[in-house]
Amino acid sequence: MIILSTFPKGGVGKTILAVHVTGLLLSVTKERILLIDADPRPDSWRFYLGRKPNSGEENKFIEVNKRFDIVWNPPQYGKKERFRPIKKAELDEYGYIVMDTDAPLEDAIAMISNNSPNIILSPINASQRDTALEDLPDFLGVLYQICGSDYSPMVRVVPLGVGQNLVSIRIEQSQDKPENCKAAPAMRNLQARMNKAKKERKYIWNYSGYEELLDYFSSIIEIDI
Ligand SMILES: Nc1ncnc2c1ncn2[C@@H]1O[C@H](COP(=O)(O)OP(=O)(O)OP(=O)(O)O)[C@@H](O)[C@H]1O
Ligand SMILES: [Mg+2]
Repeated sequence: MIILSTFPKGGVGKTILAVHVTGLLLSVTKERILLIDADPRPDSWRFYLGRKPNSGEENKFIEVNKRFDIVWNPPQYGKKERFRPIKKAELDEYGYIVMDTDAPLEDAIAMISNNSPNIILSPINASQRDTALEDLPDFLGVLYQICGSDYSPMVRVVPLGVGQNLVSIRIEQSQDKPENCKAAPAMRNLQARMNKAKKERKYIWNYSGYEELLDYFSSIIEIDI
């Protein structure tokens, strides 16, 4: 099961989703999990390892714990392959693979074409709401082009501190969109708290009063675990 967090815009919540979905899977499954951070500024990688990668750590699998590995697979500029391919045999070791991307649309397209994720999560947070909603139909149109009869991912647009309705309406207004595409349940506005969690490298549900957010992240991926 491959889950990709992507949206062609900076600062919308891609990393927040990627690390929390990873944390959810680690806490509710017994599977081996791989997190692939494909951002040249690897915030997910840093969330777990607490530092920037050293030179030579590109594309190295780093064991965070016995059943959780993380790899930084940044875009390669000026090369034919946008991302250095990871061997299928290496990916087959994992029950779940979570991917975090950077903002450029062509990187999202490369990640989707290379990996055919089963689930695509696209966050829209409160601070980027208007411009991200404006960009949403074009992005869904691109996903529509990539999808086809033999590839139909579950696409969920995830409202972070944004009303679910606003997102649903925008999806309805989009002419071309993937078949299995809708708004996920909305998270309440937690901008400051989420910033603190990211800085302190903690999951939001580990703060007192926010425990129920573990269930929230399970509701957005709709996986029976
Ligand atoms: N529930 C929420 N309500 C409001 N804001 C939120 C919520 N969850 C996350 N955010 C905000 O989203 C912001 C961006 O988060 P994040 O770093 O994950 O974005 P990103 O898309 O990965 O950015 P980049 O393009 O730089 O990689 C954070 O500042 C965080 O506060
Ligand atoms: Mg990020």
